Amino acid sequence: MRRPLRRRHLNAAVQSLAAAQALVRAVRGRPGGLCVLTGAGMSAESGIPTFRDALTGLWARFDPAELASEDGFRADPQRVWDWYAERREAARAAEPNAGHHALARFARRWPGTLALVTQNVDDLHQRAGNTDAVRLHGDLLADRWLQACPRRRDCSPDAAVPGRPPRCGECGNPLRPGVVWFGEELPPQALEAARQAAEACALMLVVGTSGAVWPAAGLVGLARRRGAQVLIVNPAASEIDDEAHLVLRGTAARMLPPLLLDDTVLGS
Ligand code: OAD
Repeated sequence: MRRPLRRRHLNAAVQSLAAAQALVRAVRGRPGGLCVLTGAGMSAESGIPTFRDALTGLWARFDPAELASEDGFRADPQRVWDWYAERREAARAAEPNAGHHALARFARRWPGTLALVTQNVDDLHQRAGNTDAVRLHGDLLADRWLQACPRRRDCSPDAAVPGRPPRCGECGNPLRPGVVWFGEELPPQALEAARQAAEACALMLVVGTSGAVWPAAGLVGLARRRGAQVLIVNPAASEIDDEAHLVLRGTAARMLPPLLLDDTVLGS
């Protein structure tokens, strides 16, 4: 009884990969034709935990109000600084996975086609070669002052006195990680670039995001309303599955190389 069921399931998966490959094939060489939005699942196979996966996600174990908000930082700057210091170490130790590499190879092979927009604050897309990825939620490895210096416009974070967190030796202003926290605006230039990419693309590929955080999640609906095909790669259901024309149930490292018709996988 079980075997035929399994075979039917496998056939369905293979067919959707073929359909998805056809969508990718159609936009290759088309300027701005492919917009890719990535989330934490993109880096999961590099060993960096996601936020909302049950048990393993960071927000299953830690309270984002305490660790990812300005109020939380002001309440306990040392705890928040130390938490990000651990995440920085983990990000530096991680390596781009096969999914990151497939995206970078696609960009090299089809210059101008890919606009990569990421919610991730690690630098794995950049280290794989997508140095122009739009970073919606900032950069985990960068520092910035908690407050703009009221006296000097060019007050560099490099001048901070070491500590947990490092601080300005004159006024005590602490450094904070260069990520976007809850309740904060996204970097306006990054958001504008992401919106333009979503509006212009013919195919919006969404990889490894729960679609729970806005305005990033809204880019998918924006692309669809402008006529783009929407393709999701995720091993589990997401909040934006309804926006998709096609959903591939698989992980980033396994699905992206064949999906992007990567020569190193297909041998063509
Ligand atoms: P989430 O943790 O909300 O969602 C991760 C998604 O990745 C889930 O849908 C998983 O099913 C999927 N996933 C898990 N493993 C995967 C794999 N190997 N391949 C592909 N997908 C996989 O992460 P985001 O959607 O990125 O904000 O979260 C959005 C924002 O919320 C983050 O940028 C972060 C967080 O608070 C900031 O840091 C500002």
